[in-house]
Amino acid sequence: MRPHFSKTHILCLILALLAILALVHNFYQFENFNTTGLKWLVEENESQPSLHTTKTRRKLYCGYEHQVLSKIEREEEESLFAALQWPKPPENKVPFVRSTDPFHSNFMILNNHANFKVGDQLEVLVHMKDYDGNPKQYGGDYLQSRIHSAYLKAGAIGRTVDYQNGSYRIFFTLLWPGEVTVSVSLVHPSEGIQLLQRLREEKPDRAYFKSLFKSGRISEVTICNVCLPGDMPICNFTDSYTGEPWFCYKPRKLSCATRINHFKGGYKKGLLTSEESNFFQSGVNIKMPIPSSGPDTVIVRPLGHAEMDSLERSHSPDVFPSGYYYQDEWQQRTQLIRHFNKSSDITECLQGKLIHLFGDSTIRQWFEYLTAFVPDLVELNLGRPKKVGPLMAVDSKHNILLNFHCHGPPIRFFTVFSSELHYIANELNRIVGGKNTVIAITIWSHLSTFPIEVYIRRLRNIRRAVVRLLDRSPKTHIVIKTANVQELGPEVSLFNSDWYSYQLDTIMRKMFSGIGVYFVDAWEMSLAHHLPHKLHPEDIIVKNQLDAFLSFVCPLETHYSFLTGIHNQMWSLFV
Ligand SMILES: *[C@@H]1O[C@H](CO)[C@@H](O)[C@H](O)[C@H]1NC(C)=O
Ligand SMILES: *[C@@H]1O[C@H](CO)[C@@H](O)[C@H](O)[C@H]1NC(C)=O
Ligand SMILES: *[C@@H]1O[C@H](CO)[C@@H](O)[C@H](O)[C@H]1NC(C)=O
Ligand SMILES: *[C@@H]1O[C@H](CO)[C@@H](O)[C@H](O)[C@H]1NC(C)=O
Ligand SMILES: *[C@@H]1O[C@H](CO)[C@@H](O)[C@H](O)[C@H]1NC(C)=O
Repeated sequence: MRPHFSKTHILCLILALLAILALVHNFYQFENFNTTGLKWLVEENESQPSLHTTKTRRKLYCGYEHQVLSKIEREEEESLFAALQWPKPPENKVPFVRSTDPFHSNFMILNNHANFKVGDQLEVLVHMKDYDGNPKQYGGDYLQSRIHSAYLKAGAIGRTVDYQNGSYRIFFTLLWPGEVTVSVSLVHPSEGIQLLQRLREEKPDRAYFKSLFKSGRISEVTICNVCLPGDMPICNFTDSYTGEPWFCYKPRKLSCATRINHFKGGYKKGLLTSEESNFFQSGVNIKMPIPSSGPDTVIVRPLGHAEMDSLERSHSPDVFPSGYYYQDEWQQRTQLIRHFNKSSDITECLQGKLIHLFGDSTIRQWFEYLTAFVPDLVELNLGRPKKVGPLMAVDSKHNILLNFHCHGPPIRFFTVFSSELHYIANELNRIVGGKNTVIAITIWSHLSTFPIEVYIRRLRNIRRAVVRLLDRSPKTHIVIKTANVQELGPEVSLFNSDWYSYQLDTIMRKMFSGIGVYFVDAWEMSLAHHLPHKLHPEDIIVKNQLDAFLSFVCPLETHYSFLTGIHNQMWSLFV
C-alpha cells in the first residue's frame, strides 16, 4: 500500500501545505470550550430552594423517592429516559422458538456497487428470523457491527437504526481504501433485552455488597446496598456532602461506627426461569455472528487529490464514528492523534504534571500501562492492594505525579477499606486544578445493575464538581473515558451486559457534553478492534486509549485540520 513519490503525490503535498497555511487558524476553534454546561452551576445553589421542584413521574426506587429535582434537572432526566427508550416485544412471554435466531437471520449490503471511495456511506439491511425461519415482526434486538480489513488491521463501528418490524439498517462510513468486510452480530435477542430491563427495575440488589464491622474481638459482616429492603435496623452511610445513599444492615452487637471495609457480597442466582434462560445461551444467541445473504465485502478506492481538496476535518464533537483503526492505531476524525510509541514522548508530555485517575479497574489499566511502559515513572509500594489502591507513581526527575483512586460504593472490588471509600465528586472538590493538573474519570461497570436514576444521580454530582473545578481553574484538563464492550456469557449478561453499559454510556455522553471535558472513546476503540471483547482490554487497546488521552493533554503543534480524518494514501506523506 505504500505509494511511490509520483508527480501527483508531490503536487498533492504542495496543495496540502498551502491548505495548512490557509486554514491554520481554524484549529484554534477547537480550543474554545462550549460552556453551556455552566448552567448546572447556577442550578446547584442548595441554600435556595427552587420554586420549580418536582418529582419525576417514573416508578421510583428506594432512596430515590425522596430525591427532589429542580425543574431543569427533571427535564434533563426525562430527556435521558426518552433517549434510553428501547422497543419491547409486543407480548410479555414469547416462546423461545419465536425469539430471534441469529443463524436464520441474515444481512445484505444494500447499496453495493463497484465504485466505492473513501468517505462514502455503506448501508446494510438486517432481516431477523426466529428458530422456525419466520421473519420477526418487531424490533428491540441489540446488534453490534463493524467494518474491517484484517490485512490493514483496520476497523470501525456502524450505527444501527431499528425499524421495529424485524428489519434493521446499519450505516457505516468507509474510512480507508482497500477490501473492507462487514460483520454484524446479535448481542441479545429483544426477548432477552426485555428481561434485562425487568431485572434492572425489579432486582436492583442482584449484585450485593457486604461490610465487616469490627471492634476488639467482636466482628460481624452485614449486607449493604444503595437501598435495603425490610424493616431491619440499618446503618445510614449516606454521604453528607453529595447525598449519595449507602446503607448496611446494622450489626447486632456493634455500632455503625465500627465499619471497617466494603466488599462484593456476590451475585444472586435463580433470577430467571428455565424458559427465560433460553434467551441467554452462549453459542446460540449471545454475541453470535449474523450470516450475510450475499457478498459481505466491498472494494474502496482512495480519493484523488481533487476530491481530497474539497474535504474538511469535521468540527463536530458528535461525528460518527468518532474514529477507526488503521494498522492498529486509532485515528480520530475530529483531532489528529499523536502516537506515543516511545516512553520518552510520554515523559515529555507529562513533565511537571499532576495526574489523577478516578474510577474503576478499566482506568486503573492506564496506571498499570504507564508505570510498566515509562521507566522513569516509578510506582511507590505503599503496601496497598494492587487492584484497589489508592496507587501512586512518581517521576521525581521530571516532576510527574500519577494517582489512581477507585470511585465510591457500589464497587465490586474485593475489599476496600471504609476510609478509602471516596466519591469522585468529593475528591474533585479537593483539587486546586490548573494547567498542570490532568484528571481522567471512568465510572460505569459497577453501576450497571441499578435503576438508571442511581447512575444519573452519581453523574450529576460528578458533573457539578467538574463544572466548579473548571470554573475556578479553567485550564485543568478533564477527560472522561467511556465504557467498553466485554466478553459475555449467560451469567455475566444479567449483571454486566454490553446493553447495560451502552445505556449508561449514552447517559454519560449526554450529561457531560458541552461542559468542556474531553472524551476518550473507549467504547468504539474496544468494539472496532479485531481482538475478542474483554472487560479489561488488551494492552494494544489501552495504548490507543492513552494515545487519545495524551493527544488531548499535549496536542500536536501543527493540526492538519483541513483533512476529513479519513485514511487515504495521502496520509503516508505526512506521518
Ligand atoms: C445562593 O443562594 C443564597 C441565598 O439565597 C444567595 O445569597 C447566594 O448568592 C446564592 N449563590 C449563588 C452562587 O447563586
Ligand atoms: C420495515 O420498515 C422499513 C421502514 O419503515 C420498511 O422500509 C421495510 O419495508 C419494512 N420491512 C418489512 C419486512 O415490513
Ligand atoms: C440517611 O441520612 C441522610 C442524611 O445524612 C438523610 O437525608 C436520610 O433521610 C437518611 N436515610 C434514612 C433511611 O435514614
Ligand atoms: C508506532 O508504532 C506502530 C506499531 O509498532 C507503528 O506502526 C507506527 O508507525 C509507529 N508510529 C510512530 C509515530 O512512530
Ligand atoms: C454547545 O453545546 C450544546 C449541546 O451540548 C449546543 O446545543 C449549543 O448549540 C452549543 N453552543 C455553541 C456556542 O457551540
